[in-house]
Amino acid sequence: MSEREVVAQALTTALDGQLSTDEILNLLENPKSAAHGDVAFPTFALAKLLHKAPQAIASELAEKIPTENFEKIEVVGPYLNFFLDKNKVSQDTLNKVITDGSNYGSENVGYGRNVVIDMSSPNIAKPISMGHLRSTVIGNALANIVAKMGYTPVKINHLGDWGTQFGKLIVAYKKWGTEEAVKKAPIQELLRLYVEFHEVAETEPELEDEARAWFKRLEDGDEEALALWQWFRDESLTEFNMIYDKLGITFDSFAGEAFYNDKMDEVVDILDEKGLLQESDGATIVNLDKYDLNPALIKKSDGATLYITRDLAAALYRKRTYDFAKALYVVGNEQSGHFKQLIATFRELGYDWADDIIHVPFGLITQGGKKLSTRKGKIILLEAVLNEADELALNQITAKNPDLPRKEQIAHEVGTGAVIFHDLKNDRLNNFDFDLEEVVRFEGETGPYVQYTHARSMSLLRKSEFKPDPTATYQLNDADSWEVIKLLQAYPETIERAFKKLEPSVIAKHAIHLAQAFNKYYAHVRILDENSERDSRLALVYAVATILKEDLRLLGLKAPDEM
Ligand code: ARG
Repeated sequence: MSEREVVAQALTTALDGQLSTDEILNLLENPKSAAHGDVAFPTFALAKLLHKAPQAIASELAEKIPTENFEKIEVVGPYLNFFLDKNKVSQDTLNKVITDGSNYGSENVGYGRNVVIDMSSPNIAKPISMGHLRSTVIGNALANIVAKMGYTPVKINHLGDWGTQFGKLIVAYKKWGTEEAVKKAPIQELLRLYVEFHEVAETEPELEDEARAWFKRLEDGDEEALALWQWFRDESLTEFNMIYDKLGITFDSFAGEAFYNDKMDEVVDILDEKGLLQESDGATIVNLDKYDLNPALIKKSDGATLYITRDLAAALYRKRTYDFAKALYVVGNEQSGHFKQLIATFRELGYDWADDIIHVPFGLITQGGKKLSTRKGKIILLEAVLNEADELALNQITAKNPDLPRKEQIAHEVGTGAVIFHDLKNDRLNNFDFDLEEVVRFEGETGPYVQYTHARSMSLLRKSEFKPDPTATYQLNDADSWEVIKLLQAYPETIERAFKKLEPSVIAKHAIHLAQAFNKYYAHVRILDENSERDSRLALVYAVATILKEDLRLLGLKAPDEM
């Protein structure tokens, strides 16, 4: 039971059913200042219910609650302030973390059920963008979080390997490209061709028609078109995989848009049978007026399918293949209209799982406050960013700890980890500016700061030769350790919150707060000094190391023991 639950329970009994435990839980507050206790209960809601003065209610309640679980209960005006028993809470919490280890906070509510996560999904022949990086690291963290709740995550990379852009690329390649140039630097060259296409098409719009024709040939299985497509795809994937390797992120499936080529007829037929298809200027659409949405464009007038046609086929396929409990789509906020259309179309079909489809949007990464876009060739090359991050980390490690073994590897875990952490630490919908120097700093709210705090606790544990004992009694009751204990104690709730909100930043913030609270404790207490409290202090260090490492793991970062 969490401490809020202990308080809620005590109040439920004292109130004799006038409010339910859930109602009480919703009313409980966490006081800002430690002087007001650990949990506070405001009596305003009860005052309305009972037609009594809040102050009077607070005093009467305080009389009725047995104090055994609390250090004290104070009445301050309309508030009941509960001071938890630090010895008891620290003992319970440390014992639980030591017993459960990295499983502390794990649940099995999702046992035997799949959550499919559509993530990363870059477009072939274009560099993987900062936006795709966000999707990759948010999706990966969500996969770890749902797994922590007992679900089986299925990570799907819905590669953008189909669509009219391949028509454009084929036209551009045939006009201005060579095999050698593509082989030498595939994505760079394909991007150059793509950008050139758009530049030239501004004055020669007939290029667009040529591109449409080539895409049509591709859809019809034309050999030349298919061979070029396959080649562009293979070359691109090799480059993407280099980045995924660097990030340490794997996928369960690379079934991209092209995979659904032969699966779209069925979904179009289903829509047709339900009488949902309409003609509009020669195109085939599903009208979504009643949802206040633009129509879903299923086929163009030349019969070519669209992005949403493939997504309809993909969702149907995923439901059949994985029987998902939830299907998450980690895709930028700018595509929210698309996902609303997708969900609405399945509702129109009467599929009850339509509402298990969840778009998990996120904000933009900007640079110097400006949006990044591929169209104009204004992109940041992700691989270069990660390399530079690793280098910045290496510089700092070399300055702090020149003899560190496996320096390069650790610098990689810290540098690339810093980029991942930076991406996850703010609410995912926030836009943020990317400044590498800022990201890789060892101080402030950064990944390296959390990793450094973990490494520092590991070093204390090594020096002390402490062996945690799940049967021992570890107790602490000072104000600094209390801040750490409360964060450890709140860990299971924290993970649940991250899961419910599909928000990795909840975990990242927990990691930062835990690291900060621990560093404050470390600054005030001589942990290794001989003292009757020594083992309890080291148990706290051990618990912090365990949970920081778990926080980092959930986010997709390594936790080096030394750095
Ligand atoms: N390839 C798309 C893009 O880069 C993202 C795909 C997202 N997933 C999906 N099932 N639509 O914009």
